[in-house]
Amino acid sequence: SLKVDSVQALAANLGPEIPDIYVRPERKEVIVAGDEEDSGESFPVIDFGRLFDSKCSEEEAAKLHSACQGWGFFQLVNHGIPEDVISKLRQDTEEFFKLPLEEKEKIAQLPGQTEGYGQLSVQSKEQKLDWGDRLAFVTFPPNNKQLRIWPTNPPSFRETIDAYAIEIKKVADGLLKMISKNLGLEFEKLYDLFKGGIQYFRFNYYPPCPSPEKVFGLGPHSDPMGLTILLQVNDLQGLQIRRKGRWLPVEVIPGALIVNIGDVIEILCNGKYKSIVHRAVVNNEKERLSVAGFHSLNIGDLVGPIPEIVKGDEMLYKSLQFEEFFKQVLAAKLEGKTILDHMKL
Ligand code: SIN
Ligand code: FE2
Repeated sequence: SLKVDSVQALAANLGPEIPDIYVRPERKEVIVAGDEEDSGESFPVIDFGRLFDSKCSEEEAAKLHSACQGWGFFQLVNHGIPEDVISKLRQDTEEFFKLPLEEKEKIAQLPGQTEGYGQLSVQSKEQKLDWGDRLAFVTFPPNNKQLRIWPTNPPSFRETIDAYAIEIKKVADGLLKMISKNLGLEFEKLYDLFKGGIQYFRFNYYPPCPSPEKVFGLGPHSDPMGLTILLQVNDLQGLQIRRKGRWLPVEVIPGALIVNIGDVIEILCNGKYKSIVHRAVVNNEKERLSVAGFHSLNIGDLVGPIPEIVKGDEMLYKSLQFEEFFKQVLAAKLEGKTILDHMKL
């Protein structure tokens, strides 16, 4: 694969014209500003505290179910993560991307690798590029951490990430329990399946762009992993989800996290919940930063519909061992397909 330049460095020295390789003709599709098309329904907001408060748990769990079923996305408020953990993550993430390029490239993502600082590796000269840089690595389980590509600058960053990773995992665990219940499974079914599984983080940095209407910060995709929890670091809007044939911008609720169902959960629940296609757009004034935490199964686990869920229904997906599944995710991407296409029976 070819080496891709840092978009941050490119954007800092750019005139009004952007290189052709970033121009995405399909960017022009219709966007819905509000929810008027959805006859009054609005983007779901779930209160994490209420999910675990016996007085209102049932009511909130029902909201969660309809969010997972009808949207595949929701905002999560009252998540209980200490404010200092989040503010430290915001601060260190911003500081990291402000470092000189040479400093960031000390932990550069190497060709063929999925971790480190860099860009989506290009596979061909024709392939279009995203208007953004990223830093990515595995945080759990501990023996899958590759500390040599973890940042040491700012000096507190590793500790900050570890603290945030633990908090986000607790949130994921809680949601997985309620989702299990909502799917008619044993309360700890999904939690057990994901226990000891992979947690992977991607820090996104999208510089401002002189022609934001021509590029994607992150092109349309669905998340291959199970459950994604997103923090919009500097509270700037940019995420859009595919809904009813249009692109719907997701509003920023300060302090909220954005959660979505990924391909692994869609497969485990045999399509009862859908992994929704989404993308990130950029603007021409200010950089945007976000941190996505992905949660999945153990390397040795089977990714396939859970028998108790399928019962008499038609089985929609085949099963693959997680390690093979992940290889197929990367292979499918190269062919411009998704892993869901590949897994469909
Ligand atoms: C994503 O991770 O798919 C989008 C993240 C973002 O909104 O920046
Ligand atoms: Fe995503």
